[in-house]
Amino acid sequence: MLLEVRDLHVEFRTRDGVAKAVNGVDYGVDAGETLAVLGESGSGKSVTAQAIMGILDIPPGRITGGEVLFQGRDLLKLKEEERRKVRGAEMAMIFQDALSSLNPVLPVGDQLGEMFVVHRGMSRKDARAKAVELMERVRIPAAKERVKDYPHQFSGGMRQRIMIAMALALEPALIIADEPTTALDVTVQAQVMDLLAELQREYNMGLILITHDLGVVADVADRIAVMYAGRIVESAPVHDIYKVPAHPYTKGLLESIPRLDQKGEELYAIKGLPPNLMHIPPGCAFHPRCPMAQDVCRTDEPPLYEVNGEEPARRSACHFWRECMNG
Ligand SMILES: Nc1ncnc2c1ncn2[C@@H]1O[C@H](COP(=O)(O)OP(=O)(O)OP(=O)(O)O)[C@@H](O)[C@H]1O
Ligand SMILES: [Mg+2]
Repeated sequence: MLLEVRDLHVEFRTRDGVAKAVNGVDYGVDAGETLAVLGESGSGKSVTAQAIMGILDIPPGRITGGEVLFQGRDLLKLKEEERRKVRGAEMAMIFQDALSSLNPVLPVGDQLGEMFVVHRGMSRKDARAKAVELMERVRIPAAKERVKDYPHQFSGGMRQRIMIAMALALEPALIIADEPTTALDVTVQAQVMDLLAELQREYNMGLILITHDLGVVADVADRIAVMYAGRIVESAPVHDIYKVPAHPYTKGLLESIPRLDQKGEELYAIKGLPPNLMHIPPGCAFHPRCPMAQDVCRTDEPPLYEVNGEEPARRSACHFWRECMNG
């Protein structure tokens, strides 16, 4: 495994109490593989990513347990200086909002070039040439002329391509993309997603793709990890999960996708709201919203059960995964 997150716990201490944002996350991604991380707002997708990247807000955040094994080393044990070397060079992140991630007063070419000056000790001139090359890689038209332009002179889609170029610059082994296309128009979303998927294959990178959009996932992901209240509730190869979900929450998510052949019919939406992270319900955190909940679900927290004994592994944190798959 390129990256393996084991039993990760993160909490936030605020004036109102302790929010348990991540409560024992286990997931992994291999080189050349795309892992999609799904789940409603507040389920801990971004916080997990920030803990992996080492950019968590500490305080109020605090990692209270677990390991982040990257190429065999536990990143949580590294000193900040070593951590900084890993970031950018070996793993990079793409955020939703390019405009606030890019420096507004610096030409994009200089920002791209900076990566090579700082990490590779290149001259400004060589770095500029590299910047143009990268802009061409992400198919920005007239890259040579546009290298001197400022972020606000690009469209949203083009800016997101620049973010992808920044992330790719040092050819990292892992990219984490946190809702990379959410802020874009639907047609542009697809183009940016296709580009990212293409480059990921070409560079044989591991990709963690955080998204709300189950539609996107089917096209690009190899595996899916579904999060709820800071835990993985189901993890499986993408085709298996679409065929038969093994967790009632996943089932609810899948049934919420609009389908062209069901026009007019009301969408199934999961009833209720995700829990308050300061008061996560005992037992299975999903039980108050679950149509299949039994007494045991209100008292016993389900482990991540092995749903099939074979590879690739499939897991579900539901006491009734068998019933879920059969019904
Ligand atoms: N800086 C912070 N200070 C306090 N609490 C925080 C902070 N960042 C995150 N949290 C807590 O962690 C929870 C999980 O946040 P996270 O950003 O990981 O959600 P998410 O799954 O990425 O949601 P979304 O889909 O909306 O991006 C939040 O609901 C909040 O309670
Ligand atoms: Mg998020």
